[in-house]
Amino acid sequence: MNTITPVAINESRSIERIIEGIATSDGAGVKLTRVLTGNLQKRLDPFLMLDAFRSDDPDDYIAGFPNHPHRGFETVTYMLSGHMRHRDSAGHEGLLENGGVQWMTAGRGVIHSEIPEQEDGMMEGFQLWLNLPAKNKMMDPWYRDFPSASIPEYVTQQGVKVRVIAGTSNGVAGAVSREITLPLYLDIHLPSRIEFSTKFPDTYNAFIYVYSGAVSVKGKQVESHRMGILSNQSGADGVTLSATEESRLILVAGKPLNEPIVQYGPFVMNTQQEIHQALSDFNNGQFA
Ligand code: CO
Repeated sequence: MNTITPVAINESRSIERIIEGIATSDGAGVKLTRVLTGNLQKRLDPFLMLDAFRSDDPDDYIAGFPNHPHRGFETVTYMLSGHMRHRDSAGHEGLLENGGVQWMTAGRGVIHSEIPEQEDGMMEGFQLWLNLPAKNKMMDPWYRDFPSASIPEYVTQQGVKVRVIAGTSNGVAGAVSREITLPLYLDIHLPSRIEFSTKFPDTYNAFIYVYSGAVSVKGKQVESHRMGILSNQSGADGVTLSATEESRLILVAGKPLNEPIVQYGPFVMNTQQEIHQALSDFNNGQFA
């Protein structure tokens, strides 16, 4: 693993707002917390949704997500703990396991299922939805599995471990890069009383989600299982994080598309007309 010295930043963003999320269920009855909800899609453009799931009760997850369609965006599933089988209509199949990432570009449309391959134990992770620019919404579907061992990581001299799922942090390029939205997606393991900084442009929308411990940004603390939206301050060229106990969080940032967002369930397009088209195509069996 690379040991690096983080690049200094000039000014950290601060926490604009703390979000608790809404307990809900999806698929065939999987219990989860919807952290990034529809009313935050404009604020956190290009990100459309973040679901956090965490349970060791199989009744909360065992039914999984049977066949359902998507069009117009990408889904990024990061599994901290558990085993989930993916199958889709474009012929892709994969087993998502502890520490692994599944990146699926729905593009013009896929039908897929995500079914747990475990009957007990902990299931914990996230699903993030990343929007596609208008010109790419009808692109061919794409899919990749990234087993845990293939995700680039680095450790700072002070012992902060960073897993780079997407984008580049402190010179380390992640598993995935995307033009236009340029997403940064990090999983950060922060020891107690150590500061850690990473750079990203002040034009990006960004948030953190703490999944263990509690994390401070410019004196404001984000508790466990909370999202902190990072302020967009001109000149703030990154974020500085610290914790008074060993903590873990994801940091997500990306360049806004500033295009109209029209969502109908699993379809996210730019106009109502395109939503009607998606429903019609789906009903006519035109999703792969
Ligand atoms: Co899905």
